[in-house]
Amino acid sequence: MAVVVIKVLSVVFASFLVLVASADTTYNIHEIPEEIISNGYPAERHHVVTEDGYILELHRIPRGKDGSSSNRPVVFLMHGLLSSSQAFIAIGPKSGVAYNLADAGFDVWMGNARGNRLSRNHTLLNPNDPSEKFQFFNFSFEEIGMTDVAAMVDYALEVSGQSQLHYIGHSQGGTVFLVLTSMKREYNEKIKSAHLLAGVGYQDHFPNKNISQLALFTDIIYQMSLSLGIVELFPPNTTAQTNRIEPDFCAGDSRYAQICEMLGIRELMANDVNNDTEPKTEVAGASLKQVAHFGQNIRDRSFRRWNFGALKNLAVYGQLIPPKYDLSLIRTNVTMHYTVADTLLDERDVLAMAADIPNAKVRKVAKDTFLHGDFVAADDCKELVTDYIIEAMLQVEENLLQNKPTEAQAILPNGDVISKDAADVIPLGTPIEKPSQSSSTNVASNLLLKTCLVFLSMVILY
Ligand SMILES: *[C@@H]1O[C@H](CO)[C@@H](O)[C@H](O)[C@H]1NC(C)=O
Ligand SMILES: *[C@@H]1O[C@H](CO)[C@@H](O)[C@H](O)[C@H]1NC(C)=O
Ligand SMILES: *[C@@H]1O[C@H](CO)[C@@H](O)[C@H](O)[C@H]1NC(C)=O
Ligand SMILES: *[C@@H]1O[C@H](CO)[C@@H](O)[C@H](O)[C@H]1NC(C)=O
Ligand SMILES: *[C@@H]1O[C@H](CO)[C@@H](O)[C@H](O)[C@H]1NC(C)=O
Ligand SMILES: *[C@@H]1O[C@H](CO)[C@@H](O)[C@H](O)[C@H]1NC(C)=O
Repeated sequence: MAVVVIKVLSVVFASFLVLVASADTTYNIHEIPEEIISNGYPAERHHVVTEDGYILELHRIPRGKDGSSSNRPVVFLMHGLLSSSQAFIAIGPKSGVAYNLADAGFDVWMGNARGNRLSRNHTLLNPNDPSEKFQFFNFSFEEIGMTDVAAMVDYALEVSGQSQLHYIGHSQGGTVFLVLTSMKREYNEKIKSAHLLAGVGYQDHFPNKNISQLALFTDIIYQMSLSLGIVELFPPNTTAQTNRIEPDFCAGDSRYAQICEMLGIRELMANDVNNDTEPKTEVAGASLKQVAHFGQNIRDRSFRRWNFGALKNLAVYGQLIPPKYDLSLIRTNVTMHYTVADTLLDERDVLAMAADIPNAKVRKVAKDTFLHGDFVAADDCKELVTDYIIEAMLQVEENLLQNKPTEAQAILPNGDVISKDAADVIPLGTPIEKPSQSSSTNVASNLLLKTCLVFLSMVILY
């Protein structure tokens, strides 16, 4: 009954790639290592089995283009919601985060969360089976953090023979870091430094009003969707691109277009990336429960565990409302990178998280139009973000060599360095404004309409 499976049971198999990839510029999401190789880098494909049976795929760039391999510190990269390890290579060797890190001397590992197209496999459960899928997709970002990331971190450390690594997480890749290091504190010891790129945690000031209004109906929408058999978003045979989301297929079936609209999936991805002239990343899928859990957190303005409802909460957690993720327990040095144009994460929430994490810094991207997805997808992410991270991680390495602590410091608004004390006194922003009467009436009638449509589509489908 209780919470989640925790420990990594076993590391099952690793299939090393020795492949010569084609020179094609288009590639299938299942050919990420081949794509990396075609760009002149070595690449490996690995699999890890979690204690609860999910088979996860990892990708590794063990060396840089020049092939030198000695003493490369490990960096682990974790993608965002509906995404995959492809996020870190999609824009190519010039600005792709994974390539830049390999060039800078790191042993680069990229994870894939359970349920995405690369980790959509299980030792016992078949995700395509009409009844087993309910159990397979019965997970949220908590399981991804506490079980998957834990297993993948342990695996990368075991294979590389190291005892610690650096962590970089984009969006939900930041959420799962916060979950893991606050819930399983021994993982703080395994992470030398963490950089969260628009890492989502607190959502007290969620910027997108459409989604936060929809979030009021999270539990109803989730239950209705389950009753329609929808447990997965963007299953393998749907062809959406991250910057070209069509709502019709989000549940893999055009009959569910209305539900999909209701879930706010399209809004979640819209305007995510600045330069969307060319779709480059395949939407890799996720469980509906992941989105529903974010919805609960937005609705409740609280970064906490899955809400089963009062009675089951009491049975599972021993209390009526779910426990919060306690960020004050995180011991790792964390830098939270954020941008003011982000439509999914408010500056005030970033500063509030940084205030609660003992060893946190914040760094605002020095470009006001930089968007949520741009951290991995924009050509200028290298100059604006990745180069800073590389320098910071190399500094940690140098300090470890010399066994000398770094200065406590924080980098703020336009990349200026200030002391952590000064970061602490930054005002956490003004209280959120109440919507005007007329706009809230509009939102309410809009919602009523949408709710009616969902009921209608349920009736039609039955
Ligand atoms: C799932 O994992 C098994 C190994 O347990 C493997 O034989 C099978 O090919 C995998 N299926 C997919 C779709 O990757
Ligand atoms: C999902 O997991 C919860 C426990 O986390 C359990 O109570 C529930 O019955 C599970 N549902 C399914 C469909 O497996
Ligand atoms: C909210 O939805 C309306 C209509 O559905 C749209 O015009 C508007 O741009 C959306 N707002 C945001 C912040 O996405
Ligand atoms: C995807 O489509 C192919 C052929 O159209 C089919 O063989 C395969 O089973 C489908 N995969 C899933 C997961 O539905
Ligand atoms: C968008 O991409 C094109 C082609 O890669 C490039 O020429 C242009 O400068 C980019 N625009 C922005 C705003 O980055
Ligand atoms: C974490 O940051 C503190 C303060 O900046 C520093 O003393 C310490 O050495 C850092 N730890 C690591 C592992 O870099």
